[in-house]
Amino acid sequence: MKLASDSPERTEELGYALGRRLKPGDVVALFGDLGSGKTTMVKGIARAFGIAGRDVTSASFTIIAEYPVRPPLFHIDLYRVEKEEDIDATGIWDCIGMDSVAVIEWAEKLGDRCGKECIRVRIKDTGDDRREISIEGLNEEDRNHL
Ligand SMILES: Nc1ncnc2c1ncn2[C@@H]1O[C@H](COP(=O)(O)OP(=O)(O)OP(=O)(O)O)[C@@H](O)[C@H]1O
Ligand SMILES: [Mg+2]
Repeated sequence: MKLASDSPERTEELGYALGRRLKPGDVVALFGDLGSGKTTMVKGIARAFGIAGRDVTSASFTIIAEYPVRPPLFHIDLYRVEKEEDIDATGIWDCIGMDSVAVIEWAEKLGDRCGKECIRVRIKDTGDDRREISIEGLNEEDRNHL
């Protein structure tokens, strides 16, 4: 499905709506250029888990942030991972799946390793504050709630 956003607030709201649909084991892979709005969307997702947006930051030093909520929420930012071979050393595979929810910025770096089941969100800057957001991997009921 394709959605349009015309403000950071709208992108955050979409993140919130998506976050409300997530359940343990879900993985959200975020794709998009620098500054496209991935972290903005993660703030909305995190809010759906009761985490304040200001507590969600761009991961300049940490690759993995874990929020102590139920289900556990992991915010993973692969920006600083240079090579696909370095992915395993980040420990992300211990954070994904099972009873947790994981959202991954710069999922491009995973190649095709985020799995068939993962929810893929692609954000494209279409000028000024406009973004085109495409979401794949949601079932029909979830789509109807976005
Ligand atoms: N419709 C929009 N949706 C999201 N962000 C927008 C929108 N319009 C403008 N912006 C601005 O674009 C920037 C998006 O920043 P954000 O940190 O969310 O991007 P990012 O994709 O996480 O970047 P990075 O690749 O550095 O992690 C913010 O400054 C935000 O205010
Ligand atoms: Mg970011």
